[in-house]
Amino acid sequence: MTKHIGILTSGGDSPGLNAAIRGVGKAALDLKMHIVGFRDGFRGLMENRTVELEGGQLSGILTVGGTILGTSREKPHKMTVDGKLRDMTDTIVANYKANRLDCLVCLGGGGTQKNALRLKQAGLNVVTLPKTIDNDVALTDTTFGFDTALGIATEAIDRLHSTAHSHHRIIVVEIMGHRAGWLALGAGIAGGADVILIPEIPYDVESVATAIKKRKRGGKPFSIVAVAEGALGIEEHQAMQAARKARKGKDADAAEIVYADRTIKLAERLQALTDLEARVTILGHLQRGGTPSAADRILATRLGTAAADLIHTHQYGVMVAARGEATAPVALEDVAGQVKTVPVEHPWVESARRVGTNFGD
Ligand code: F6P
Repeated sequence: MTKHIGILTSGGDSPGLNAAIRGVGKAALDLKMHIVGFRDGFRGLMENRTVELEGGQLSGILTVGGTILGTSREKPHKMTVDGKLRDMTDTIVANYKANRLDCLVCLGGGGTQKNALRLKQAGLNVVTLPKTIDNDVALTDTTFGFDTALGIATEAIDRLHSTAHSHHRIIVVEIMGHRAGWLALGAGIAGGADVILIPEIPYDVESVATAIKKRKRGGKPFSIVAVAEGALGIEEHQAMQAARKARKGKDADAAEIVYADRTIKLAERLQALTDLEARVTILGHLQRGGTPSAADRILATRLGTAAADLIHTHQYGVMVAARGEATAPVALEDVAGQVKTVPVEHPWVESARRVGTNFGD
């Protein structure tokens, strides 16, 4: 009997999503399955907005950024309908059945893994793929989107170096990553940033200023500070911990970080403490746009085709993780709610310290 599968992309977009849709789709068609896409994440599934994915729609998208399906950050159990937040899980289950689906494939980051688990608990067959530029999904070596964003952020740091050098300035470059420091750490190392500040290592601005002044005394009156958007000073970190503890169980997803504001304040403090001019560059959504790197295209294709194979063999309720050269199914219960942050003694951190990088601690 022909298997029917649905596919959607959810959460912030990232390079490689189309490569993954193509990977799932082409492998599924090869296995004689029927595949339908839902537009704009869980919202489109709730509203039953579909697009048939036949051979034609899956061609010519490997190299294209974004997602041909559109995305949203909507959650099945908390969707805005008629101006109110409502639990739309029942409608989603009904649409899944109306489309005679055997499985729903959800491409997304940490939030999507949680939402997929909720749908599994509501009785649906789901398979997920780990996508995010933040690289913070647990139990997978890496996520697609990360490598492309890493390349973009690294090139930005390369370019900032020459202007910082010419003007004898500090340039503070803010890099995405939400509550994880992978992107800032990786780009900081690859781009040779003098200071790297990540959420996992609360920083002391005086320590950063001391490192910059030391460089100045050594004949290098310029510095690049790569700061993760979620990095916090020691006191801010303590206050944030207390706030998170107080909120535990209420709304752990509530927005809490005003990133850009904090980075501008950091640059102002460094300027005052070092007597060097400071400038801020916020890379923002540049890091999520455009053509995926070769590594992300390969990863997304590998994970996508593995998803089709799992569905073919009736293995549901799992995320397809990258494990070395292979892939492995991981139970959604084990992934959902976990955030893969940078261990403070991670080899990348150790190597960066060995070449003299300051972490503000
Ligand atoms: O999760 C990906 C990410 O780009 C984070 O790095 C960033 O904090 C967030 O999404 C930005 O979200 P939005 O595009 O909704 O502003």
